[in-house]
Amino acid sequence: MPKNAALVLAAGKGTRMHSDRPKVLQTLLGTPMLACVLQALRPIFADDIWVVAGHRAELVRAAFPEARFIVQEQQLGTGHALQCALPGLSAAGYTHLLVVNGDTPLLSAQVVSRFVAESSDADVTFATIELEDPGAYGRVVRDATQGLSIVEAKDFDPALHGPASGEVNAGIYYCRLAVLEHLLPRLCNDNKSGEYYITDIVALAVADGYKVAGVRCGHDVALMGVNSPLELAHMEEQLRARIVNDLLAAGVIVHAPELVRVGPMVQVEPGAELTGPCELYGHTCIAHGASIASHCVVRDCHIETGAEVRSFSHLEGAQVGVGALVGPFARLRPGAILEDNAHVGNFVEMKKARLGKGSKANHLTYLGDADIGEGTNIGAGTITCNYDGVHKYKTAIGNHAFIGSNTALVAPVCVGDSALVGAGSVITKDVPEGTLGIARSRQKNLPQKKV
Ligand code: UD1
Ligand code: CA
Repeated sequence: MPKNAALVLAAGKGTRMHSDRPKVLQTLLGTPMLACVLQALRPIFADDIWVVAGHRAELVRAAFPEARFIVQEQQLGTGHALQCALPGLSAAGYTHLLVVNGDTPLLSAQVVSRFVAESSDADVTFATIELEDPGAYGRVVRDATQGLSIVEAKDFDPALHGPASGEVNAGIYYCRLAVLEHLLPRLCNDNKSGEYYITDIVALAVADGYKVAGVRCGHDVALMGVNSPLELAHMEEQLRARIVNDLLAAGVIVHAPELVRVGPMVQVEPGAELTGPCELYGHTCIAHGASIASHCVVRDCHIETGAEVRSFSHLEGAQVGVGALVGPFARLRPGAILEDNAHVGNFVEMKKARLGKGSKANHLTYLGDADIGEGTNIGAGTITCNYDGVHKYKTAIGNHAFIGSNTALVAPVCVGDSALVGAGSVITKDVPEGTLGIARSRQKNLPQKKV
C-alpha cells in the first residue's frame, strides 16, 4: 500500500505581485490562495499535508495555525524547496509524494484525485495543460530521441528544443519518494535563473530509465497558476463563476448571478435566496429560506431559515436566528447574536451582544457587550455606553423591557424584566424588575422675555 503525502510549495515571494504580502496569502473571494489549495488536498490526503514556507514564513504560519510546515530559509528554487522537505518526509515513512505549487488556487479535489489515479504506476508524473500562449510556463518537450523533459520558459530555445507545442507544465507532480531521494541531490542551478528547478527531475528520471509520464489535462483552468495581479483577477473571476454556477445547480435562488461573490468556504443551502451585488465570505452558512438582499457583505456568519438580511447591511461573525430581520443599513460585528424573530433595523450596530427572541432594535442604536432578553423593545437612539476609555463593561436587559428613545445605558448596568426606561435617560444605576427608571432633568416651561 502506498503511503501518500502532499507537499505544497509556498515559500516564494511572488515578486510579480509587487506586494509585501507572501503570494500564497493573496486572496480570492476573501480566502487566501493557500487555503484554496489545502481545501482541494484535504479530502485525499487528510492530515498528511505539508507546506513549505520561506518568504515571511511567520505570516504564513500565523494564517494557518493548524497546517504542518517545513521551512525553506533561502528560496533557491522549487527544486531546492523539495530538497528541504525530503528528509522529514522520508523519515515520516511516506512512499509517494504529490507536490503542488501553492499558487494554483483553482485546484479541486476531483482534479487531484484524477491525476493521482492516472499516476499510480509511474515513478515520476506531472500534469500538463495546453495553452495558446505558453507565457512563463515551463515547456513540455517530447523528443523522440531524448525523451520527455520540461524546459523553463527562460531557458527555452527553439533551435535546441524544437518549436514550442503549447503543452506546458502545470506545476503538480506525483513521485515515488525513493526516486526523489535518488535524483534530488543531482539538481543543479546552471540555468538562466540560477535556481534549482523541480522540473529538472523529469529529464533526470528519464535518463536513469525510470517510468516518467506527462499526464495531459487539456486546457484545464483549475491547473493554472497565479503570478501577477492580472492573473489573480482572472482566476478570482473564474472561481466566482464556478461557485455561483454550482450554487444555482444545487438549487440556490440567485438574482443577478454575475454580481454575486461567494467565497469557497461558504455554504449556502438550496432554497436560500441571494441578490447581487452581494458578497459572502469566510465560513458563512446561509440556511434554506434565508435571503440576502443586494449590497450586503456577510463574513463568517450563520444565517438561519427564514431570516432576511436587507440591503446595505454589513455582517461579520454574527448569528442571525430563524425568521430574524436585519437592516437595511445594519452593522453586525463579531459576537452579535439575533435570536429567532429578533429585528435589527437601519443604522443599528451590534457587537458581542445578544438580542433575545422577538426583541427589536429598529433605529439608530449601538448595542455592545450587551445581553438583551426576549420580547424587549430598544427605542431609537439607544446607546450602551460600554467603554470608559480603559475597560469594557456589560449591559444586561431582561425580558419584555422597554427602553425609551435616546437612552444612554452607562455600563455596568442592569435593567430588569418588564422594566421601563423613560426616553432621554442617562441610566447609571440598575433599574429593577417592573419599575420605571427616568434619569433626566425635569422639563420647565418659563415665560418668554419680551424684547
Ligand atoms: C513553475 C514551474 C513551471 C510551471 C509553473 C506552473 C519551476 C522551476 N517552474 O514556474 O515549469 O509551468 O510553475 O505554474 O518549478 N517556491 C518555493 N520556493 C522557492 C521558489 C518557489 O516554495 O524557492 C514556490 C512558490 O511559492 C510557488 C511555487 O513554488 O508557490 C512555484 O514557484 P513560481 O516562482 O511561481 O514558479 P513559476 O515561475 O510559476
Ligand atoms: Ca507560479
